[in-house]
Amino acid sequence: MAHGFLLILLFSHIISTNVHACNQTERASLLSFSSTLSSHPLNWTSVNCCCWKGIVCNQDGLVTHLLLSSKGLKGRLEILDLSFNLLSGNLPFSLPSHNIQTLDLSSNRFHGAIPSSFFQQARNLTSFNVNNNTFSGLIPSSICLHSSPLIRLLDFSFNAFSGKISPGLGECSKLQIFRAGNNNLSGLLPNDIDNATKLEEIALPSNSLNGAIGERIFNLTNLAILDLSFNQFSGILPSHFGKLSKLKHLALDCNHFEGSLPPSLMNCTNLVEIHMAVNNLEGDISMLNFSKLSHLSKLELSLNHFTGTFPTSLYSCESLKSINLATNNLEGQIQPEILSLKSLTFLSLSGLTNINGAMKILMHCKSLQTLLLSHSFNGEEIPTDEGMLEILIMSGSRITGPIPKSLGTLPKLLFLCMQDNQISGEFPKELCGLPRISNWPPTISLSFNHIHGRIPTEIGQMHLVHTLDLSGNYFSGNIPEQISNLKNLENLSLSMNQLSGNIPLSLASFSFLKYLNVSYNNLEGPIPTSTQLQSFNASAFEGNPNLCGAPLPNKCLPIKGIDANSKNNQGVDNGHQFPWLYIFIALGFIIMYKIGSM
Ligand SMILES: *[C@@H]1O[C@H](CO)[C@@H](O)[C@H](O)[C@H]1NC(C)=O
Ligand SMILES: *[C@@H]1O[C@H](CO)[C@@H](O)[C@H](O)[C@H]1NC(C)=O
Ligand SMILES: *[C@@H]1O[C@H](CO)[C@@H](O)[C@H](O)[C@H]1NC(C)=O
Ligand SMILES: *[C@@H]1O[C@H](CO)[C@@H](O)[C@H](O)[C@H]1NC(C)=O
Ligand SMILES: *[C@@H]1O[C@H](CO)[C@@H](O)[C@H](O)[C@H]1NC(C)=O
Ligand SMILES: *[C@@H]1O[C@H](CO)[C@@H](O)[C@H](O)[C@H]1NC(C)=O
Ligand SMILES: *[C@@H]1O[C@H](CO)[C@@H](O)[C@H](O)[C@H]1NC(C)=O
Ligand SMILES: *[C@@H]1O[C@H](CO)[C@@H](O)[C@H](O)[C@H]1NC(C)=O
Ligand SMILES: *[C@@H]1O[C@H](CO)[C@@H](O)[C@H](O)[C@H]1NC(C)=O
Ligand SMILES: *[C@@H]1O[C@H](CO)[C@@H](O)[C@H](O)[C@H]1NC(C)=O
Ligand SMILES: *[C@@H]1O[C@H](CO)[C@@H](O)[C@H](O)[C@H]1NC(C)=O
Ligand SMILES: *[C@@H]1O[C@H](CO)[C@@H](O)[C@H](O)[C@H]1NC(C)=O
Repeated sequence: MAHGFLLILLFSHIISTNVHACNQTERASLLSFSSTLSSHPLNWTSVNCCCWKGIVCNQDGLVTHLLLSSKGLKGRLEILDLSFNLLSGNLPFSLPSHNIQTLDLSSNRFHGAIPSSFFQQARNLTSFNVNNNTFSGLIPSSICLHSSPLIRLLDFSFNAFSGKISPGLGECSKLQIFRAGNNNLSGLLPNDIDNATKLEEIALPSNSLNGAIGERIFNLTNLAILDLSFNQFSGILPSHFGKLSKLKHLALDCNHFEGSLPPSLMNCTNLVEIHMAVNNLEGDISMLNFSKLSHLSKLELSLNHFTGTFPTSLYSCESLKSINLATNNLEGQIQPEILSLKSLTFLSLSGLTNINGAMKILMHCKSLQTLLLSHSFNGEEIPTDEGMLEILIMSGSRITGPIPKSLGTLPKLLFLCMQDNQISGEFPKELCGLPRISNWPPTISLSFNHIHGRIPTEIGQMHLVHTLDLSGNYFSGNIPEQISNLKNLENLSLSMNQLSGNIPLSLASFSFLKYLNVSYNNLEGPIPTSTQLQSFNASAFEGNPNLCGAPLPNKCLPIKGIDANSKNNQGVDNGHQFPWLYIFIALGFIIMYKIGSM
């Protein structure tokens, strides 16, 4: 909103002022500056510098806006006399700072500290943006008291600022947006920040800030965005969130917050996103009534210690697109009412206990693209309904029964991970139609189940698959030649099965494979010679007593050697400890962010 306002301001300014003739002193200064730039020519050539790209003047032909984002500029910011000075190389350019209203230097390579004195004469500065440079030192905070009282936007994000944020911003009575995320800031939130009551956005993610959020922050009743994620904040969440009635986006994930979610948060009826993952929060979330949050689109509470059941009041939040409750101490029972969430695309309930039956309901949720249910079930069969799912993750859930053939007909499924269950039966050849799309690296993982029989020759139809993991099952017979048709395959694991015969010669042509593991089978004969296969670690082939040739130590001729080592290893236990759960929670997290940036 604030951006919109600034933009409108800017455009009306451009339209009304750009016609004015350019002050020749300023023109000369800008020109000498642009002549030092070799890589990104600014094309500043015409007589009237007020028409140049990135320059806006006032009626007197004096430069008021410098919009130099992404111009490949290097150098430092300095204050010399009463002027802004950008030192690029050794040639400074300087403009009278009291005229400047907007300075946008984002996405360049400026470095060094920003001296507070830089702002001293900048009485008319409203917008200062140095996002994505390599500035260091302290964040200048005493900007408003004796210098720029009109400042509305301060963006210091993505730099190398460090140290504390000193008090001072509280004097900025017009400040709407304060961003300083992705720096190396430490210490507490400045104790006067709540005096800057016009603030609409505070975004300080990915720093090392600590301490608690005090009650005083609720003086900032205009706040729409509060992002303190990825810091070291701690303490209980203060109770008066309800005062922040304009709050839309609350991101407190990856901190050390504890205690329960304040019930008054449910009075922030404009909330669109709540991110609280990876904290030490607890309490029964089924006691909270989310039903007033009619704009809520994303709820991210994973990796906390919440208790209770899936909050039924969420069923009335009709804007919900994404819910992540994974890895808490929650219990399930999903009701058919969840189908009233017509926009739900992402749902992670991994680690919720007692959600048997949920799959049968969720398969009717036509909008759902990603479903994460790892470690959730206890001995349930895979449901066989159709759906629009793109991602189905049901690892470690003691799922039983065969893989339904109908899974192969899901038109969009590209990520099927069911490792570490008790799936039995054969590998249905219908599954070989998967995946049909590839906007994620398509993955089929069925490792550590009880699947038996041959790997069907139709496997060669899985053209798009990147990762195929069938390890830890009871597959027997040969490795089908057709597997070499999988031109996108980067990762193939067939280890710990009962596969026999030779490694197909066609595998030698598999130059795109980055990872292969066929260990612990009954494969025999020479490993086909190719630069690729010989480059893999010998452990990828171990445990096949009659397999020979590089990279295994045993030569194929003259002796059909038996590798004593691998023989000894034959009895290794099948205990496997892939950190899948965490990988997929992380994945969920990434997807959430992806959805968030859409
Ligand atoms: C041009 O700007 C300079 C400061 O940069 C100022 O001293 C001078 O008076 C201006 N000239 C005119 C004609 O306005
Ligand atoms: C440089 O600017 C002039 C007008 O000021 C324009 O006609 C010309 O196309 C521009 N050249 C490039 C390469 O952008
Ligand atoms: C800057 O502010 C002063 C008052 O502080 C005003 O007289 C002057 O016209 C302003 N300059 C611009 C370019 O707006
Ligand atoms: C940051 O700036 C660099 C150029 O210095 C640019 O390549 C990059 O895309 C920018 N990153 C963002 C997130 O804007
Ligand atoms: C971050 O700041 C701390 C002090 O607060 C300092 O010890 C550390 O070196 C800084 N790290 C980087 C990458 O600048
Ligand atoms: C906040 O503002 C009030 C009145 O405007 C003032 O009395 C108080 O000292 C300020 N607080 C801080 C921490 O600066
Ligand atoms: C800010 O909040 C505190 C306590 O919540 C209150 O005592 C104080 O008066 C408030 N200040 C303003 C300026 O509203
Ligand atoms: C939420 O708002 C309602 C009405 O505005 C109020 O009665 C209630 O006490 C508030 N609840 C909390 C927990 O603040
Ligand atoms: C939640 O609040 C709504 C009114 O906002 C009420 O109709 C509903 O019964 C409440 N639900 C629960 C589970 O308390
Ligand atoms: C391939 O799979 C193995 C084991 O499943 C894993 O360690 C590796 O990171 C994967 N590599 C790629 C490129 O996906
Ligand atoms: C092969 O892998 C094993 C463990 O997986 C490791 O200890 C060994 O260093 C690797 N050897 C080479 C040559 O990479
Ligand atoms: C192949 O799998 C076996 C059994 O899990 C393992 O011991 C070995 O380290 C793996 N080799 C590689 C290269 O990953």
